[in-house]
Amino acid sequence: MDLGLADRTYVVTGGSSGVGLATVRALLDEGANVATCGRDADRLARIGEHDRLFTATCDVRDAAAVRDFVEASAEAFGGRLDGLVNNAGQSRMKRLDDTTEDDWRDELELKFAGVLNPLQAARKHLGASDAASVVNVNAVLAKQPEPRLITTSAARAGILNLSKSLATELAADGIRVNSVCLGLVDTGQWTRRHAAADSGLPYDDWQAELAADRGVALGRLGRAEEVAYAIVALLSPRASYITGTSIDVCGGVGRGIL
Ligand SMILES: NC(=O)c1ccc[n+]([C@@H]2O[C@H](COP(=O)([O-])OP(=O)(O)OC[C@H]3O[C@@H](n4cnc5c(N)ncnc54)[C@H](OP(=O)(O)O)[C@@H]3O)[C@@H](O)[C@H]2O)c1
Repeated sequence: MDLGLADRTYVVTGGSSGVGLATVRALLDEGANVATCGRDADRLARIGEHDRLFTATCDVRDAAAVRDFVEASAEAFGGRLDGLVNNAGQSRMKRLDDTTEDDWRDELELKFAGVLNPLQAARKHLGASDAASVVNVNAVLAKQPEPRLITTSAARAGILNLSKSLATELAADGIRVNSVCLGLVDTGQWTRRHAAADSGLPYDDWQAELAADRGVALGRLGRAEEVAYAIVALLSPRASYITGTSIDVCGGVGRGIL
C-alpha cells in the first residue's frame, strides 16, 4: 500500500537515536522530507547525509530555539510541514522518597515542553497542510504507572490527557493528534541502564530477565523499528479518520486492559 508520505515534510524531535532515528529512516524510505533535532551535534551527524534530511541542534525545552528549528525545517523543504512527531525525551528512574522538587519540576517541564513547544511552532504550517498529523510518543506508564518511575508515570498520564484535548481542539484546523504508548523498547535508554546496573550479565540475558520481570507477554524488548511502523502509519494521510486515540506498542506488557 502506498502510504502517501512521499514529498510531504515531517518534523521528528529526538531523531538521533532509538525510536526517533528509526522513524526518521522509515520516513526517508517512504520518500518523505524529514527534519530532526537533538541536543548533541555529533550524534545528529552520525545519522548521515541525505538530500531529504535536515538536522539542527535544539533542546525541546527551549521555546525560542524550537521556533527557529521548526521555521528552518519548513524553509528547507519549500515552506510546508505535514506532520510532527514529538519524540525527544527520556524517563526518570525515581521512587517517591528519592524524588526532589527539582526532579518533579524538570520532568514535568521536559514532558510538557516536549509536546507544546514543537506544536506551537509548527501549528501555522500544519494548519495549511491537507493531511496534518501529530504523533506524541508516550509510554504505557501513562495508563499503568510504576512506583519506580513515579514522576515519569505522572507526567506521561498528563500528556495522554493533553493529547486528547489537542485532538479535539485542533480538529477544526484539520490537524489529527494521536499517541503511541511504548512498553520496553531496546534503545539507548536501556543500553545506558544496562551499563549503569553493572550486573555482570551480557546485554541479551539482562534484557530477557527485564522482559520477564516486567511481564512482557512476547518475552522480549521491542525494536525501535516496530515503534516507527506505528508512528508512520498514524502520520499517513491514509489514517485520515484516526484522531484522539493511542496505540500501545508494548509486546503485551502487564495484565490489565490498557
Ligand atoms: N525505550 C523505551 O523503552 C521507552 C519507553 C517508553 C517511552 N519512551 C520514550 O520514547 C522516546 C524516545 O526514546 P528512546 O528510547 O528512543 O531514547 P533514546 O535512544 O535515548 O533517544 C532519545 C532522543 O531524544 C533526544 N533528546 C533527549 N532529550 C532531548 C531534549 N531535551 N531536546 C532535544 N532532543 C532530546 C536524544 O538526543 P540528545 O541526547 O542528543 O538530545 C535522542 O535523539 C522518549 O520520549 C522516551 O521517553 C521510551
